Parts: sequence; C-alpha cells; structure tokens
Amino acid sequence: MEKILVKLGCRAYEILIEKGLVAGAGPFGAAVRVAAIAEGARIAFVSDENVWAAGGAAFFEALARAGAGVFPVIIKPGEASKNLGGLGRLADAFAEFGLTRGGLVCAMGGGVVGDLAGFAAATWMRGVCYAQIPTSLLAMVDSSVGGKTAVDIPAGKNLVGAFHQPSLVLVDPGLLATLPTREFRSGMAEVIKYGAALRMGLFERLEKTDCAAGASSPGFDGIIADCIGIKAAIVEEDELDKGRRALLNFGHTFGHAIEAKYGFAKYTHGEAVAIGMRIAARYGEAVGITEPGTAARLCALLDAWGLTAEEGADGLIELIGKDKKAKGNAVGLILLTRIGEAAIFRTPLADVEAGLAGLAAAGQRRRTESAAESAGTPEAAAPMDSAR
Ligand code: GLY
Repeated sequence: MEKILVKLGCRAYEILIEKGLVAGAGPFGAAVRVAAIAEGARIAFVSDENVWAAGGAAFFEALARAGAGVFPVIIKPGEASKNLGGLGRLADAFAEFGLTRGGLVCAMGGGVVGDLAGFAAATWMRGVCYAQIPTSLLAMVDSSVGGKTAVDIPAGKNLVGAFHQPSLVLVDPGLLATLPTREFRSGMAEVIKYGAALRMGLFERLEKTDCAAGASSPGFDGIIADCIGIKAAIVEEDELDKGRRALLNFGHTFGHAIEAKYGFAKYTHGEAVAIGMRIAARYGEAVGITEPGTAARLCALLDAWGLTAEEGADGLIELIGKDKKAKGNAVGLILLTRIGEAAIFRTPLADVEAGLAGLAAAGQRRRTESAAESAGTPEAAAPMDSAR
C-alpha cells in the first residue's frame, strides 16, 4: 500500500492508495480505519445513487460491521445536487440521525459528492471531521485532496465554500475499472495537467503509457500516486491557495470560460480543461513565454488520451473577466515555460484579449490549411503559423 502524508500540522492526514482497498476482498480493513476516526460517534455515509449501487452499499455494510453507528445519505448523481438545497438536505439528515460534533462524514463518490459532503462537514456544527473515498479519476487525483469544499449557486460554480481538510483519504484505483470512458478521459486531463505544469518525468511517462489500456495499463496506479504526491506537496506549501497552489489551475482559466460559454452543458470539466491547456500552451508560445514546440507536444499527448476536442479562442475574454480569480482588469494566467514547468503571469485583460485574437486568427489559418490538406491542394504542405 502506498501512503502519502499531507503534512499540515494539526490538520495532517494520510492518503492510502491500493487496488482493492475499498472495493476488493478487504474493505473491512479500510472500514475499520474510517470507523476509528469517529471513536464511537455516529458516521454520516454520503454517496450518490450510482455509487451506492456499484459498491457504496457494500462499503456501508463494512462500516456497520466495523462497529460504526453509520447512517446513509444518498443523493442524486450529478452537479445539480451540489447546491445550497443539497447542503440543506444533508444538514437535515445529519440532524435527524444525530450527527454530533465528534461524528464523521464519510464521502464516497466523485467530485460532486466530495465537494458537497466536504462542505457539509465544514459547516455542520461549525466543522466536523470527514473522510474521502473518491471513485472517479478526477476525484482521486484532484478534488479529494487539499480540502477545497464548495457548492454552486446560480451566480457561479463553487462560489460558496470553505477550506476544510479531510482526516483520511482512501484511494482504490480498482474502482476505475467501471468508470465510463468519458469520465476517465476527463480525469486524464487533470493527470496530464500535473505532468505538463509540474513534472516533466510524469509527462514523459504518460507519453510512454499504453493509452488504449487506460486505468489497466501497467504502472497506472503509480501515475495516480505521483499526481496525488505532487498535489500534496503543493497543498503543504500553500494550503489556502494564495500563491503556488494556483499552478494546479493550468488550463483552468480558459477551460472555465469554455465551460461557461456552453452553459456547462457541452463539455465535462476535464474536457474543457484539456481545451484550456491547448489554448494556454499556444498563447504562451505566441507571447514568447512557452518554449516553442511545447504546444504541439502537449496537444499530441491530449489527442493520444482521447481528449481531442478543439475550440476557437474567440468569445472567451468577457467570460475570463468574470472568473472568480480575475482581479480588477487583470488575470493571473498560468503559463508553461516548458513541459513540467509553469509560472503565474498577472496579465491585463486587454493583453489577454489581443493574444486570444492572434490565436483566433492563427486557428482560422490552421482550419483553412487542414481543409486544403483534405482536399489535396498544394497549400497542405505550408508550415504552421509561428504564432501557434
Ligand atoms: N483543484 C485545484 C486545487 O485544489 O487547488
């Protein structure tokens, strides 16, 4: 079993990573660890209907066998559950079943369950402990670690939230075997992000990994552990997201704008982040910050892992200005200097707008060239625009 300790003083916690830890033959051992945190007080087991049917109920039973006074709170799957109404329903259930200050919230599910249950734990009786059992790739490598909890309101996603670190995170990569392909790919966008922005060795490993085998490819559990290790180290340095933690948002400024442009309906978060990383890498090259060739290499890796969607950069600037991370007339853009290295560049929105306009023109030229290529005209051999 791989153990990663997130060293945050009195808020330190362990992340345990092992295939079969939760869904395999031995969930009892994992359940005993979770039950131990509550020390006899009640445990609210929060999950969604899909996860409950696919193994959540079994883990709930294991918790009960481990002697925990546990009660289930099962929500509808999907982002629509992650709002103030959903928070209220959890609080009502906690009250009904007698969750006390010494009790525990155990969240088993993807990002929605983790964010909602985590925020409920952060606010119930001014804060109770919670444990995370992520079941999606995105939740394993990102949202279950680092203590960001939140719900959405009509004005925006994750606008009401709190930093509240979990007491334990149990990661079972075996759970990914039944994850739908689209969700797996979405999680891969965050995995690729870690390599692109923070660790060249991980990026190179991903280039050599058998993409077709997905989560079953040899060494994939180690890739998950690497991502978690990178995130844990950044959270230790900058728990409250005032500095270096922003590097985890590579691709997110453009990605959030793309999600918003389509009313959060066309792309998953990961798919939008993948498109955002393409735009950020091309933008970085165009303004001379990113080493030439980086965008092509990043786009090739995204393509290989099935994250092939492309979007023009037009129409994004107004949405970027509304991003909760924009300040005044500037935004902190996370740009690559080269593969494995990123930095934050506070950039006036007007400059971002001009840069995006250049990309939009270059994108139009690319589309024309590729149409010409399909038609077999001589222009097909023309080199790519250097502003790419
Ligand atoms: N998902 C980015 C962060 O946790 O800071």
